[in-house]
Amino acid sequence: MPVLNWIGKEQVVNHDKDVPFRLLNKVSSLSTKEESENLIIEGDNLEALKSLMPYYAGQIKCIYIDPPYNTGNEKWVYNDRVNSPEIRKWLGKVVGSEGEDLNRHDKWLCIMYPRLKLLRDLLSDDGVIFVSIDDIEVHFLKMVMNEIFGDGCFIEQIIWKNKFGAGAKTKGFISLHEYILCYSKKEGFIKDIKVPLSERLRKMYSKKDEKFEKLGPYATWPLETTSMDERKNLRYPILYKGKEIWPKKQWLWSKERIEKAIEENRIVFNENKGKVNIRFKGYLYDESGELKKGTPISIYDGPYTQEGTKELMEIFGKSVFSFPKPSKLIKNLINITINNESNKDAIILDSFAGSGPTGHAVLDINKEDGGNRKFILVEMENKIAQDITAERVKRVIRGYSYNGKKVAGLGGGFQFMRLGTTLFDADGFISEDVTFKDLAQYIYFTETKTALNTRKIDGLFIGEKNDTEYYLLFNGIKKNVIDNKILRQINKNPKPKIIYADRCLIDKQTLARHKITFKQIPYEVKIY
Ligand SMILES: C[S@@+](CC[C@H](N)C(=O)[O-])C[C@H]1O[C@@H](n2cnc3c(N)ncnc32)[C@H](O)[C@@H]1O
Repeated sequence: MPVLNWIGKEQVVNHDKDVPFRLLNKVSSLSTKEESENLIIEGDNLEALKSLMPYYAGQIKCIYIDPPYNTGNEKWVYNDRVNSPEIRKWLGKVVGSEGEDLNRHDKWLCIMYPRLKLLRDLLSDDGVIFVSIDDIEVHFLKMVMNEIFGDGCFIEQIIWKNKFGAGAKTKGFISLHEYILCYSKKEGFIKDIKVPLSERLRKMYSKKDEKFEKLGPYATWPLETTSMDERKNLRYPILYKGKEIWPKKQWLWSKERIEKAIEENRIVFNENKGKVNIRFKGYLYDESGELKKGTPISIYDGPYTQEGTKELMEIFGKSVFSFPKPSKLIKNLINITINNESNKDAIILDSFAGSGPTGHAVLDINKEDGGNRKFILVEMENKIAQDITAERVKRVIRGYSYNGKKVAGLGGGFQFMRLGTTLFDADGFISEDVTFKDLAQYIYFTETKTALNTRKIDGLFIGEKNDTEYYLLFNGIKKNVIDNKILRQINKNPKPKIIYADRCLIDKQTLARHKITFKQIPYEVKIY
C-alpha cells in the first residue's frame, strides 16, 4: 500500500507515546450540579486524549471530530513539543496560508497523526470514527487514516452538501459540499449499517390491513426490477384473474417466494385500464416488533451550515462561533451506527469540540429514545471551552428562551475538567497529587491495555485480566510493603499475580510458589 511522507513524519509517528499522562481535575464551579458521566475537558486534545486512555481505552463507540481544515484563515498555531529541531522551528507560530507557508500541510499532518492514533486506541472494537474535512486536506487525511486504521477499515467518504446555494467567494465551481470520512476500528466489523427511517419514508407507511395490530401500517414497492443483471429464474409469469402477467425484464423475487407472499396477502395487484401493476407490501415493524430502519446513503443533502449558525444564535441570542456544525448533522452520524437498544449507553467523543454540537446531539438523542449515552468533549481554548462549549451544553440541558419563546431543556449534566499534574514528577517519582485510584487505573491500563472498572477494586486487588490478577500497595496502604501479612490477604487461588509496591520483604522462592511478580513503584511503572 502506498504511504504518504511529509516533513516531520518520522518524529511524530510515535509522539503519542511521549506525551505525559496528566490527571483530570474536576472544576466544580463550571460543572452542572447533577453528577454526570458526561465530560467537558478544557485542554489540548493531545494531552487530554492521553489522559483519558486509562479510563476509556477501547470503550468509545463513536468519535466525531471537526479539526481545523487548514484553510489559512483559522490562525491555528503549531504547539506540539516534539523532540525535533525541524519541528521546534514551527512552535508557537500561526500556520500561514497556501503560498505563504510552505510547510502548512506538513504541520497539519504532524498535528493530526498522533491524535488520530490516540483516537483509534480509544475506540471500541465495534466503534467508528467520523472526521469532517474539506478539499484542502481530504486526500492527505485519507492516506493517513488508511495508514493508522488500515485501508480495510475505510467505510465511506460521505459527501455533505453543506450549503443551500452559492457563497460569497467561489473559485471556478461553486463549491457546495465538504466530506466526512468514516472508518471503523476493526476491519469487517461493521457490515450491516442502518439508520432510522427519514420522515419522508416514514410517511409512506400509511396503509392498513389485517396485520396492522402486529406489524403496523404498510407501504408498497414495485415487484418488477429494473436491475441490469439478467437472472432467468426471476423471469416468469404471475397468474392474476386467470391472466399471465409478465415483467418487462424480471421480478425481484423467486416464484416460490412470490407464491408464498400472495398466500399471506403481502402482494397488491393494481389494475388500471387493463394494465396490472404488481407491488409488494413492507410493514413499519418486523415480526419481533422492531421499528423498520433504512440504509444510509453516501450523500447528505443538508442539514446546512446556516442551520448550525441559526441553532447557536437561538441558544445564545447572538453570534458566538463561526461555522458551527448543525447538531442534527452529528445526530445523523451517531444514529448511523449506534442508535439501537444495545448502544443506548454508548460513549461519544469529540476532541475538537468548538461550540459543542456533539454534546447537544447526544443529549437530544437520549431525550428522544430515553437512552443514557455519554459524551466527552475536548476544547483547547479556555474561553471557548467555558463560555461557549460548556455554556451551550448547560443551556440546552436547562432550557433557554429565544425571542420570548421557551425552549424546554433536554436534561442531563456534565463535569467540567482541566488537565492536572502529570503522573510522574520531574524526577520520575509518582506526583504527590496522585491517588490510589489514579495509579490503579494507570497501572492496570499499562499492563492490560484496557480500562479498569474501578467498581471492582477491592482493597489491594485492583482487577483481573486474562487470568492474571493485579494488586497495588500505594499511598500508605500497609506502608506500601509486601510482607507475610499481605501474602495472607491476597486471593488464595492458583492464578498469577502482579503486585505493585514500594518494597517486598518476601523471598524469591515464596513469591514463585505463590506465582507472584513484584513490581517496584515507580521504577517498574511503565510509561505508556
Ligand atoms: C473547526 S472547530 C470545531 C467546530 C465544532 N465542530 C462546532 O461545530 O462548533 C475546531 C475547534 O477545535 C479547537 N481545537 C483546535 N485545536 C485543538 C486541540 N489541539 N485540542 C483541542 N481543541 C482544539 C478549536 O479551538 C476549535 O474550537
